[in-house]
Amino acid sequence: MMIAVIACAISIPATAGVAGQWTDSAALWDSTCGYCHEKAAVGPVLFGRNLPRELIDTWTRNSHGRMPPFTHSEISDAELAALTEWINRQPAPKATAP
Ligand code: HEC
Repeated sequence: MMIAVIACAISIPATAGVAGQWTDSAALWDSTCGYCHEKAAVGPVLFGRNLPRELIDTWTRNSHGRMPPFTHSEISDAELAALTEWINRQPAPKATAP
């Protein structure tokens, strides 16, 4: 088990973490999802949309288009559930002036 955890930690991209290390959902978001979904706007805005948990689970666990999959060893089910609630509590971003 320990070997598997270490092997995952080495092979996963620098942006992904290891399940159990996240102290809160904001930290998980900032280091794992926020780059694409907030800062770089590679992925669609998720805040302020009250997305169903199943949708976030499916997208996170499977690879779709340009979004990478995240395994249970990177983000646990409990962490993903907490993250989903956190995402849905965030206000929609304000439109930026043209
Ligand atoms: C490498 C960039 C990247 C990262 C990291 C990433 N995503 Fe995505 N995500 C995308 C892209 C791009 C799409 C849209 C699919 C496409 O265009 O190929 C997407 C789509 C989604 C969708 C569907 C949105 C909709 O409108 O239906 C959800 C939900 C989602 N991502 C959640 C997450 C969560 C939660 C994380 C963190 C655990 C995350 N993503 C990390 C790039 C990323």
